[in-house]
Amino acid sequence: MKQVNIALLGCGTVGSGVIELLQHNGALIEEQLHTKISVKRVLVRDVEKYSNLEIAGPVSFTDNFQEIIQDDDISVVVEVMGSADFARECIEQCFHHGKSVVSANKDLIADYGIPLLKLSNMKNVDFQFEASVAGGVPIVRAMYASLNSNRISEIIGIMNGTTNYILSQMTERGISYQQALEEAQAKGYAEADPTNDVSGYDAARKIAILGTLGFHAELTFRDVRVEGIEKITAEDIKHAAEMGYVIKLLAIARQDEEGISLNVHPGLIRKNHPLANVADAYNAICVRGNCVGDVMFYGAGAGSLPTASAVVSDLMNVVMHLNIGMTGQRNFVNHEAKLKSQDRISSPYYLRLMVKNSTGVLADTANVLATYGISIRSLIQKDETAEVAEVVLLIDSSADSIVQQALKKLESLACIYKIANAIRVIEV
Ligand code: NAP
Ligand code: HSE
Repeated sequence: MKQVNIALLGCGTVGSGVIELLQHNGALIEEQLHTKISVKRVLVRDVEKYSNLEIAGPVSFTDNFQEIIQDDDISVVVEVMGSADFARECIEQCFHHGKSVVSANKDLIADYGIPLLKLSNMKNVDFQFEASVAGGVPIVRAMYASLNSNRISEIIGIMNGTTNYILSQMTERGISYQQALEEAQAKGYAEADPTNDVSGYDAARKIAILGTLGFHAELTFRDVRVEGIEKITAEDIKHAAEMGYVIKLLAIARQDEEGISLNVHPGLIRKNHPLANVADAYNAICVRGNCVGDVMFYGAGAGSLPTASAVVSDLMNVVMHLNIGMTGQRNFVNHEAKLKSQDRISSPYYLRLMVKNSTGVLADTANVLATYGISIRSLIQKDETAEVAEVVLLIDSSADSIVQQALKKLESLACIYKIANAIRVIEV
């Protein structure tokens, strides 16, 4: 039987999952490829830390990347280290040495995916990155190989497990953001520094990758307008539920005749929308194509074996390409990205205001909104004391910039103590 030797860059959550999957499903993989995939070398920073790892076969751990790059027996390198700069340098060197690469590194791919893909094409090697979006959910290959006969107009999804876990727990148990975040950290979903997840940056990188694949234009993390979930409170979730909505962190890519928009922000979606029922740390992505209509992908967006499932399927694809001598022939980008002006993006909004509990305040609020041409869809006065009342409004679709101006004006009124929150309502 033929054998393809590979190297892993990194042996943490994902790298160890790749080794485990190759061991457990080795026979199944060989049966399909007529080729054995053998892990020859593994790059880590601290070799000693891995000395007790039980791995079948002679695998050599090293902290020296040159041992991998100079080894002509290694034809595929799996980059599961994280970090952008060093990983990019390693991947470029792999391409220059005729080695194909599989990577799970969304940070890198969201910024340099297309330049790296072009280099891999030039060097006639493969570059695959299924695990860079939504871990085990097979969305990357679906975008470029299964939905590519369609004109894609919308990609909307829950692409970060940590924030979905936090919002799900706040919804189901009425707990605070802080308590849900601490639980997510205890369960190992959120990092000790959870900024990338809760501020929406992780989801922003994933939607930049999917937008590039869906719209065939180079989009990066910097093209995404990002807002996190830090300001969402148990009160917002409760009021949204009373109005028939669920709050989720949504990553949204849309393309119309005015251009492309990429946004990550919390959004109210109707309880009967399929994304509303995606709970805990799961991910789900809905794609709208002009021929296929709406399709949805759902599954584990992270974790050792789910992510390894995506990495090894990429690896199998590369081996298939090597076996038939057909690597490095992919081109996802056909034109420049034309971004839609943010001033042209509109949606209905949920607003929660803390106001003075006195006559005429609601009239003043309605007047300000009317001045900006904003129509009120519904208004409920919630908890109140002798001095303060909480007012929750749903306003009709309005341009983001107009809503921001109206909120500023409302905030300047003496009778309005605070704009407690303003969250977009997503109508899909
Ligand atoms: P991890 O558990 O922190 O493991 C990182 C591994 O890479 C460790 O073995 C580490 O070695 C090694 N490493 C890091 N920097 C290195 C360097 N400069 N030189 C040599 N080795 C280095 O990370 P992970 O969770 O497996 O994530 C790996 C990649 O997969 C990231 O790009 C991540 O975004 C992506 N990803 C992860 C998941 C997930 O569920 N975890 C899901 C999808 C995508 P030492 O231990 O010696 O430092
Ligand atoms: N931190 C990510 C999440 C997993 O919570 O979904 C890796 O992409």
